Amino acid sequence: MLSSLRCPIHNRRAHPSSWSADWLALRAAGARPAANSGTEAVTDVVQDGGVKPQVWERLDVSAWEVVGRQQTGSTENLWLADPDSQVWWLHKDTVIPRNGVEQGEDWSEVASTQVARILGVPCATTRLCIREGRRGSLSKTVRPVDADLWEGQVVLQDLGVPDYFPHTEDRPGVDPSRPKVKRPGHSLPNIKRALDATAPPPGFDGPAALSGFDVFAGYLLLDALIANRDRHEQNWAVLIPRLLDPPKRLSPSYDHASSLGYNLTDDKRLTYLRSDAELANWASKGTAYRFEHQGRPPTLVAHAMNAVGLCSPEGADWWRSRIGTLDLRELTEALLAQDIEGLSHLAATFACELLNTNLRRLRDAVHERS
Ligand SMILES: Nc1ncnc2c1ncn2[C@@H]1O[C@H](COP(=O)(O)OP(=O)(O)O)[C@@H](O)[C@H]1O
Ligand SMILES: [Mg+2]
Repeated sequence: MLSSLRCPIHNRRAHPSSWSADWLALRAAGARPAANSGTEAVTDVVQDGGVKPQVWERLDVSAWEVVGRQQTGSTENLWLADPDSQVWWLHKDTVIPRNGVEQGEDWSEVASTQVARILGVPCATTRLCIREGRRGSLSKTVRPVDADLWEGQVVLQDLGVPDYFPHTEDRPGVDPSRPKVKRPGHSLPNIKRALDATAPPPGFDGPAALSGFDVFAGYLLLDALIANRDRHEQNWAVLIPRLLDPPKRLSPSYDHASSLGYNLTDDKRLTYLRSDAELANWASKGTAYRFEHQGRPPTLVAHAMNAVGLCSPEGADWWRSRIGTLDLRELTEALLAQDIEGLSHLAATFACELLNTNLRRLRDAVHERS
């Protein structure tokens, strides 16, 4: 429950002081990834307790040195070095589409990181930033100095499975023997084959018995919670040690910007917030279309539960219990209370209601399948 108040317009739950002001305002307005620079940073994934206030501070990084260009990703992003620590952070601008309404990739990235932390999913540390007057986000490198980061596309090609056909936006993967299948080979069984042989990421706080795939299932639960449809094969990775001894590890998760309704206008948010049914209907359109499918892809919730079904018994028990006890209130309360540039109260309310809806959907799915 966000609050016991009701929205005066739609008779929905509302956060004190948020709805009417927003409604009036709305009406009126009509290279290669860099390595961690030190051992300290190897385990510097988000796992500390509590949502700290500085999580919501916006760093001005205009003076930070550009130390690299990230060749993969939807746009060419820059690696910047923190002048104090020399640690590398991947910088991403928010997107301003043709309608001129700046999207919320910055706050969605940072809020999703907090969901990951509360769920127990290892994840890159992220921050809000501003660079040369533009809003953006930073993602602290997850690559240790003594390892390479192989994106899923490389991992699956290296696995040598015959049914994987690499996919890029300008050149979709096609399996000539299964031409109607989309994203051929980017499937849970192939990913399991690849990740069962990897250890959990640095900083993973769960049972020692879990495999890399068991932890990856948690990434898909995170995606279902935050409504992230973007888990394509460049948005997960494996850390490959340069020395022979240390194990291959699943990389901490990264790139959660496409989440929490980051690209909706406030008008749309208002429409979906009219009733629980409208919001649930919007949420159910979140599908796992980045994974192998034919016809309509499964919902993000069903896909995550399929992954949990492929986990070891310890892995499945772990995630079912995490979902059963998950408490996102510290985050939802912080989101609604913070004054974050670019995050209207409507956007914050939508994000919080969406998280609660998706958590309910996941709990129902866990219940149905047990
Ligand atoms: N925190 C990180 N540490 C190391 N590499 C990263 C990190 N974040 C992203 N990358 C690498 O950069 C690529 C592009 O970053 P991503 O956040 O996915 O941007 P985009 O939104 O453009 O896809 C990823 O596919 C991954 O290889
Ligand atoms: Mg990406």
